[in-house]
Amino acid sequence: MADCGYTAIDVSEALLRLASVSAGRALTLPDGAGSAEDLQARWQAVAAAASTSEDLDPASLEQLKAIFNYIEAVIISCGAPDSFDVYEVCFETLTKIGFILRGMSAKELILRLLEDVHEVYDVLLSCVETYEWVRALASCIAQKLTPRACVPRWEELYLPVLRLSHTLAHLPAASLKELEHEAMASRLSHGKEKLGDKPDFAKGSFYFNPLSDAPGSEEDREKFPWAMPKNIWPKEIAELEPHCKALGKAMHEVCAGLAVQVDKIMGDRVKTYDADLGPTVSETQKCKGRLLYYFPPAKAPDAGEAAGAVSEDGWIGWHNDSGFLTALTPDMYVDDDTGAVVPNPDPDAGLWVVSRDGNAVPVKIPSDCMAIQVGECLQVVTGGELVATPHCVRGCRPSHTGGRRVARVSCPCFIDTHPSFPVRMPEGCSREEVLARGFSAKVPPLGERWTEGATFGDFLGATFRRYYEWSLPKPVPA
Ligand SMILES: [Fe+2]
Repeated sequence: MADCGYTAIDVSEALLRLASVSAGRALTLPDGAGSAEDLQARWQAVAAAASTSEDLDPASLEQLKAIFNYIEAVIISCGAPDSFDVYEVCFETLTKIGFILRGMSAKELILRLLEDVHEVYDVLLSCVETYEWVRALASCIAQKLTPRACVPRWEELYLPVLRLSHTLAHLPAASLKELEHEAMASRLSHGKEKLGDKPDFAKGSFYFNPLSDAPGSEEDREKFPWAMPKNIWPKEIAELEPHCKALGKAMHEVCAGLAVQVDKIMGDRVKTYDADLGPTVSETQKCKGRLLYYFPPAKAPDAGEAAGAVSEDGWIGWHNDSGFLTALTPDMYVDDDTGAVVPNPDPDAGLWVVSRDGNAVPVKIPSDCMAIQVGECLQVVTGGELVATPHCVRGCRPSHTGGRRVARVSCPCFIDTHPSFPVRMPEGCSREEVLARGFSAKVPPLGERWTEGATFGDFLGATFRRYYEWSLPKPVPA
């Protein structure tokens, strides 16, 4: 409790103010909301339990739920446009509770409450005068979700892998050839993969499975050679294998934990949900790390920046991840000639996503954070409750690099189900609604690629074909 600067007494005082403000407004609260004394007694019970254990016991959680129900009822019932004083004390109370209670179950209750009142919350966020105190709660929750809390030694896991990428990308051609795999298993493919019908020279990819050198069964590898190929490690960089495996295993572990949370949340929201992702993700061997080295973009001759010397999505075009969960490391920038790590010289370079309002926005993953993206299969099996986000990677503009040739490095890990997993919506969901979520003109529509009853393998095949067609030059209308 000491490191956040708030104490249980601060929460007691906030609850007193909350009760007093609610009484002053003569709000109509539901039966059983309780009195100011009830709020205090409940908080005393929660604080006492939290002082002995991070995770609250069921009885204390019930008390916390009652406090949150009270706050939710106040937020929803006040409703008037001049109710900022009420909102302020509600969010102040939540912020202080959020800082003090560190267990996952308390965190989930806060997030649930925020979802229940999200319309109010969205309106508040658009008001400058309320931003400061609402932001405190948002950053409190974000802080609790950082990998510091759940991925020990995160930076020690991903930095060595990213640092080795420059050496890997510049191995002699003969060594790189040995890493090539006809099934795209494990290789540094520079110009070997294709974008539409053109070889992709923008980046090099080294694929590995962190969970097993020979994942799945012999039959799996024969039937789905693209999904679970054997690893090929470069003999020139012996330390790459243990570092990649340690990083990928940690990413898989975090995603498996997240999948359990997805099951929990979905069980509450959609009664017909039956994807059972927790055990599926935990047991899967379809786990593909991709160490990416984005070569410095070549400046287009005679093209000024305004004319697009580096295209909007020059390093990786706009796309959705097709599978379930993609864990992401922060990125790193290196001088391609020397391998020295350099700060990102171009504020617009790196990962961009389409926000829910349809705009492209940059995303900077903090150096101590792991990010996780939702893939399209997860969107389908959750009935659209979770939405895949279109994203791309923008190259460094040569005019920003001071003459240096700057490359970008990152290492996503794609954590998916077995290819035979059925990708189907929960019963009773509407196909139109599932497909409409997160629709963007920047990526081929999901509805053109996913048919009910398709397996994950079928869906990926259809997606690869559609993206191939999508990236071919479009015929110019006559
Ligand atoms: Fe992606």
